[in-house]
Amino acid sequence: MNNGSSSHIVYGGDYNPDQWIKTKEVWDEDIRLMKLAHINSATVGIFAWSLLEPQEGVFDFDWLDEIVEKLYDNGISVILATPSGARPPWLSEKYPEVLRVEENGIRNEYGVRHNHCLTSPVYREKVSIINRKLAEHFKGNPAIKMWHISNEYSGECHCPLCQEAFRKWLKKEYHNDINELNDKWWGGFWSHNYTDFSQINSPKSRGENHVSALKLCWKRFVTDSHISFYENEIAPLRELTPDIPVTTNFMNMYDGIDYQKFASHVDTVSWDNYPDWSNGNTARTAINTAFAHDVFRSTKGGKPFYMMESTPSVVNWRQVNKIPSPGTQEITSIQALAYGSDSVQYFQWRKSRGGHEKYHGAVVGHDGTENTRVFSEAAHTGEILEKLSDVAGKQSEAEVAIICDWENKWATDFFCGYNNNRRDYFDECKKWYIPFYKAGITVDIIPEDADYSGYKVIIAPFLYMLKDQTEERITSYIKNGGCFVSTYLFGVTDKDDRCFLGGFPANGLKDVFGISVEETDALPDDLIYKASFGDKFYDVRHICDIIRPNGAQILGEYKSDFYSGTPCVTFNKFDEGKAYCVAFRNEGDFARDFCSMLIESNRIKSAVNFNIPDGIGIRKRGDFIFVMNFSNEMKIIPFPIYYTDVITGELVFGKTRLEANKYLIVKEKKENE
Ligand code: GLA
Ligand code: ZN
Repeated sequence: MNNGSSSHIVYGGDYNPDQWIKTKEVWDEDIRLMKLAHINSATVGIFAWSLLEPQEGVFDFDWLDEIVEKLYDNGISVILATPSGARPPWLSEKYPEVLRVEENGIRNEYGVRHNHCLTSPVYREKVSIINRKLAEHFKGNPAIKMWHISNEYSGECHCPLCQEAFRKWLKKEYHNDINELNDKWWGGFWSHNYTDFSQINSPKSRGENHVSALKLCWKRFVTDSHISFYENEIAPLRELTPDIPVTTNFMNMYDGIDYQKFASHVDTVSWDNYPDWSNGNTARTAINTAFAHDVFRSTKGGKPFYMMESTPSVVNWRQVNKIPSPGTQEITSIQALAYGSDSVQYFQWRKSRGGHEKYHGAVVGHDGTENTRVFSEAAHTGEILEKLSDVAGKQSEAEVAIICDWENKWATDFFCGYNNNRRDYFDECKKWYIPFYKAGITVDIIPEDADYSGYKVIIAPFLYMLKDQTEERITSYIKNGGCFVSTYLFGVTDKDDRCFLGGFPANGLKDVFGISVEETDALPDDLIYKASFGDKFYDVRHICDIIRPNGAQILGEYKSDFYSGTPCVTFNKFDEGKAYCVAFRNEGDFARDFCSMLIESNRIKSAVNFNIPDGIGIRKRGDFIFVMNFSNEMKIIPFPIYYTDVITGELVFGKTRLEANKYLIVKEKKENE
């Protein structure tokens, strides 16, 4: 099976010819316009179930054949979707069990999409039947380059079938031993010892919602249900079309599904990217987007991913949907490429005439022509992407990793104590990402259980929950010469959210880091403490560990409250490696200075050899260097050596102007060029 890697940049997006089946002249116009816009791929059939199977067991693929053929004859390949994201009404009318039951215990009525039970055998069977029909039908069809499974899997179902499945999942997790579950969930507290698995329900606001281990298990179960639902979807595709890679589109930092786990089940990771460019801080939006790209790139060990959706202009689901400034769509696309995407795809090709998303941006608007700003920008992007086909397949090398783990996100959200207002785990990870981003350094964003070995530096912000083996893995990484940075509330609980006994961080990590944490203080938002590091002082916010050094060198101290003068930044040489602890939380200026020290002392390479102006994003992919201006003003880029502009072929050297929303893609000039 191929992994979806491609010799060109896939350019296209969601295309819904099914909405225009009664006016097929629109299809011909679509083809003409797609060619004008340099589109080479269309994702078809995502929400087409009611046309594909208008009545139970009656299938009609003729219209799909017709459009697939038209597309392919015109040089446009097809990413074919399975339609499980939205059902025809007949299905839930006949089989109400397919409808989702919300947390309140009430079964939903027919409506919207993604409104299905993940466990329902009937739904799984119906999905499997139509997927098999599609695979039988399109098997061997050269137009089909990838399967797009369902759409943005999300949510959860609390129906009786799901409750039963959850109990089964728990039985497996706890070796069919209710006492093991009671021990791990600390059932003696509030007299919560169960005598049978049948007594356990999904967490609910009107039921059990104070047992963090239950909530963690439920999240893990929901992830596994999605994966098994997906595995059921792809079984016929794997059997009949083993050469066609499979993906499903992830939704940014959505935390309802552990994407880091799900990713190992897809051939190509893909995600839907809708940056908020109108929030008044475009440079920050660019960082958030870069971070998400790096998350998804890292889920597959750095292999290229697809940006499955983005908008060519506006979305319709923010409260106010401001049009981003001209050029935004292009720089969003280029940023995706810079960070490892092999595709630029839109939601959507043509605006629907009716329905909920009729005002969502599309390449072709309700005017239906190519005479719009949005169309001409998309066409220009298409032209540029054709010149960048060599970028496809290339990867970035990372010497630094940040551990940002989905399960740890859940755990940090669920415990009660210290500062209950301030968790923001993903933002905490971003704080440590920003200094590297600003220095043009590639960072992998990895889960706790990733392979640590190739990294010079690993930073683990707020790594509160340690999964089985994490302690050993951190220890051996450091032993073998790695440089590891932990922060506050590090190594506090195990995977069932039970505290480690004998002090924090867990077990032997106290020796590795040469410290132990005695107390943890929480500061209200308006109480800002001070800490020293080097010859500077920094703000201490929200959470701070009070630590007792036990062999570690003290690099910084608190300067406030009864713990003034006690250590808050420590360093321990452990065997071949280095173990740092930063015991407090701050707004990022500390991370900036601390990371500068890490970059220097570990000789971490940047993509470029000059000071990167604020608001400029720089990323190296293969030997392409992307320089992108995400600020809203012109910036001067001080290129110290000769580069070649990949698009124009011109030489670039010295102080070079780069307007807002503009970018340069360059390569170092070789001696003989
Ligand atoms: C998601 C969905 C699309 C569409 C867009 C709108 O990403 O996958 O079907 O609803 O949002 O932004
Ligand atoms: Zn259910």
